Amino acid sequence: MDNGWNDSARAWIDVIGEDGDWGRKYVLDAPMLAQADALSPRRALDLGCGEGRFCRLLASRGVTTVGIDPTAALIDEARRRHPEGDYRVEGAEALSLDDASVDLVVAYLSLIDIANLGAALRECRRVLRPGGHLLIANLQAFNTAAVPLGWTREPDGSRRFCIDHYLHERPVETAWRGIRITNWHRPLSTYMAGLLGEGFVLEHFAEPAPQGVDDDKADRYRRAPNFLVMRWRKAS
Ligand SMILES: C[S@@+](CC[C@H](N)C(=O)[O-])C[C@H]1O[C@@H](n2cnc3c(N)ncnc32)[C@H](O)[C@@H]1O
Repeated sequence: MDNGWNDSARAWIDVIGEDGDWGRKYVLDAPMLAQADALSPRRALDLGCGEGRFCRLLASRGVTTVGIDPTAALIDEARRRHPEGDYRVEGAEALSLDDASVDLVVAYLSLIDIANLGAALRECRRVLRPGGHLLIANLQAFNTAAVPLGWTREPDGSRRFCIDHYLHERPVETAWRGIRITNWHRPLSTYMAGLLGEGFVLEHFAEPAPQGVDDDKADRYRRAPNFLVMRWRKAS
């Protein structure tokens, strides 16, 4: 299935820029970097690295990085911006890395884009060394269940966040700022069961609020937090 990322690559690169989009800048980067810093990995894999921004952030902290993504135009851009980096055109379901070869796998808003979640989690477990970590930022499942309704207005003008068919896993077409892609709605239980089924141990769970910004969007993100952050450890 073409998930739209090839055709959306240019628009994505423009939206992300060098500092990330609103959600990365004001909500996710700080907790994701704090987790990565606390783990002090020597070698990290960024699963679905896009144009490589998080690899570059990790590399600037002295981490050796591998970025994988099946979207060739995004990997081209990652290589252009970070020529000494290791970037590979491949999907999370079949990784070219050796067994137990990384200390950290980062999935920064990419699990929602991966059609075969089970295969991807198996590969994460395979390439992590025992005691290594999987650090995840994901869209909240109630958020992916809100497409296409999302925020609506009541007759009295107040706003409500509307979700539906929460337990029904499905591809979701979504479009914003020139990007048109299909990702996946899965209930939170699908992610948790998949991770627990691979023997991962949950060490950290957060629903981060926006920091350093106080606009309407921040208000909406506090009412219905867009994202979650989880850190899982490979036990053995
Ligand atoms: C929302 S973007 C996030 C990119 C990057 N992690 C970031 O935060 O900027 C989702 C990424 O997942 C990638 N992707 C889609 N299918 C994938 C798959 N099967 N395996 C790995 N990555 C995939 C897309 O190409 C896209 O770069």
